[in-house]
Amino acid sequence: MKTPQTPFPLTGYHGPEFFCDREQELEQLLSNIRGNQLTTLVALRRLGKTALIHHLFHHLGKGYIKIYIDILPTESLNDLLNQLSTAMISQYSERSNIGKRIWQLIRSLRPVISYDALNGAPQVMLKTTPVESKKTISEIFAVLEEQSKPVVIAIDEFQQILEYPEKQTDAWLRSVVQQLRNVNFIFSGSQQHLMTDLFTNPARPFFRSTSLLKIGKIDAESYAEFILGQFKKQAVSISAETVTEILNWTNLHTWYVQLLCSKVILTTEKTVTSGTWKKEAIKILKEQEFVFYGYREMLTKAQWGLLKAIARDITVYQPTSSEFIARHQLGNASTVLQSLRSLIDKELVYRELNENGETYYGIYDILLGQWLLQKDPRQ
Ligand SMILES: Nc1ncnc2c1ncn2[C@@H]1O[C@H](COP(=O)(O)OP(=O)(O)O)[C@@H](O)[C@H]1O
Ligand SMILES: [Mg+2]
Repeated sequence: MKTPQTPFPLTGYHGPEFFCDREQELEQLLSNIRGNQLTTLVALRRLGKTALIHHLFHHLGKGYIKIYIDILPTESLNDLLNQLSTAMISQYSERSNIGKRIWQLIRSLRPVISYDALNGAPQVMLKTTPVESKKTISEIFAVLEEQSKPVVIAIDEFQQILEYPEKQTDAWLRSVVQQLRNVNFIFSGSQQHLMTDLFTNPARPFFRSTSLLKIGKIDAESYAEFILGQFKKQAVSISAETVTEILNWTNLHTWYVQLLCSKVILTTEKTVTSGTWKKEAIKILKEQEFVFYGYREMLTKAQWGLLKAIARDITVYQPTSSEFIARHQLGNASTVLQSLRSLIDKELVYRELNENGETYYGIYDILLGQWLLQKDPRQ
């Protein structure tokens, strides 16, 4: 594991010293694995699903075979096979027992193997029919099934399988997964409505077959403690109040917290003040400004107006209520509803449930939300 450049890394997993909390979530994942229970992991983007999977893998240690694949870039079963084969052969060389078996399977399909220019990692490119893809994926699972160590496969951005041209890929996968005893799965995904549909809709093959783990924001107190500790290690002083300000501005959304903290620590020699983080925050917004103007271009006036209104209120429970509409001068409820749907579709606004099962809405991109506030003459 490479040591990251900042104590607040923005990509990859760098070990428990760089990882805050998630103790309960980790416990649940570990207990699912010990109990041979499949897991569905869902959360908004950038809250920490991928990092949590790697944290779990770290804790599982050498006693387990751990395979991670991110299927966001895949568009078919053939791509899924490529991703899985690549993960297998980059982890197991041909000299190892598993590696040898996987190579045998892949070689018969005439792969093109390329090597990453930077880190030399092999990349498998196969061209297979859907039938061959399914057969080979099952054969790879069969190799894993025979291992003496238990196996955990994490499939990240799992909702992407809904985009495959092969219909009912989830039905096929469910039937394969069901037969495995030595191989456990974690299905992780960001698009919550799709993930929820895949696993909680009675008409779907994966219905109730997994334990659902939904991750939220890291608790403010433990995040503050973690941040104070990371600054202390670098001998940069920061007060608890300033940390709270940072956590408020980033709305505790993990990636944004990490981003702002890493900018702040990289530009501070001794002491962080309120002024320090605010200066960095403004710089970050300035860097993103062209993206935000791009959104404005893309949206109708009504959608843009609603976006600003949601930014102002931060969390909105009743976007079609007359109170909300009047206060933000948004016209009528049906326009608001239409705009809201479109903003959700574009992933500019998210829809969430609170502990009591009530729906609320917020701006997905924290930076966009802050930028809208900054530009808003009413603030
Ligand atoms: N518990 C954590 N402690 C510290 N940093 C974290 C933690 N969880 C996630 N991160 C960081 O936050 C960012 C977003 O996390 P990621 O796992 O990529 O989110 P997701 O997969 O949900 O989109 C990454 O930079 C990651 O390193
Ligand atoms: Mg991720």
